[in-house]
Amino acid sequence: MRVLAIMGSPRRNGTGTKVVRQIEEELRKQGDVEMTYLYLADVDLKMCRGCFECISKGEDRCPLKDDRVGIEGMMDRSDGIILVSPGYVQNVSGLMKNFMDRFAYTNHRPRFFGKQMMLVANGGAGLDKTLDALRIAIFGPHIVSELAYAKLPWPTSPKGDVKQEVKLRKAAEQFYRAMVEKDMRPSFSDYMRFRFFKSVAGSIGEWMPADLAYYSALDQYYYDFRIGAGMKLKAAVVMRIGSLFMGSMAPYAGDSKAMSGPATDAGDGANNQDEPSFKGP
Ligand SMILES: Cc1cc2nc3c(=O)[nH]c(=O)nc-3n(C[C@H](O)[C@H](O)[C@H](O)COP(=O)(O)O)c2cc1C
Repeated sequence: MRVLAIMGSPRRNGTGTKVVRQIEEELRKQGDVEMTYLYLADVDLKMCRGCFECISKGEDRCPLKDDRVGIEGMMDRSDGIILVSPGYVQNVSGLMKNFMDRFAYTNHRPRFFGKQMMLVANGGAGLDKTLDALRIAIFGPHIVSELAYAKLPWPTSPKGDVKQEVKLRKAAEQFYRAMVEKDMRPSFSDYMRFRFFKSVAGSIGEWMPADLAYYSALDQYYYDFRIGAGMKLKAAVVMRIGSLFMGSMAPYAGDSKAMSGPATDAGDGANNQDEPSFKGP
């Protein structure tokens, strides 16, 4: 298994590294593992300038020429990704946040399907919030395991330390098992995300052409997978209810003209499913 650990601490020899080395040890007990540590502090990943080009027009339009594409390739070639961040002010580190910003386009157009992902937050208090942030770092990989690892700068109870080691072992085993099983079944929220973006892409294609192109090329799901009738029905109901709450987020087309997706090569835009496109308020 090829595992890529994306390290969010500026410190190469900090707790994050120690925790991931322990995870690596546990993974190796399960089978063959090729581990790569990618320290965000060591790569050239420039600070996002906020132009929004990657999200609206496509990631190839990013004006920053640096290691982003190379990192994308590293993720493509891995079976599993471990995202690691120390808790900074009950959030992720600045390095990890910039990584998230530079890959924010995956929020709109997920990729790295079939990869399993483990999240690791290390520090003291508020690690649940660090994990909350990591959960929305990249879209596409399947989050299968999470670990909040508390390591304080003073001695802690041996009993608590043992508990933590057990937690680490279990999280590592879960991650390895998921890489072997490679379960491609989407969760309901994955499917909802797809339906929502596909529906919206048709209505806002003029402003978000990359989303329109991406979703127009897709039919049932992000990848070839037969979605069950029950899940489709449930999603259609949720979409209908959701459209009532779109409110000020919906594109505005004046008082009388209702918005519908702009005509495109895709025929019916990206809206070829059974929910309405979002209407202007
Ligand atoms: C800028 C900064 C902010 C931090 N904020 C918190 C915090 O909110 N809560 C906490 O418990 N620890 C906090 N810490 C401590 C780190 O989470 C802790 O030292 C962590 O283990 C460092 O990870 P590393 O050794 O992998 O770099 C902070 C540390 C720094 C440098």
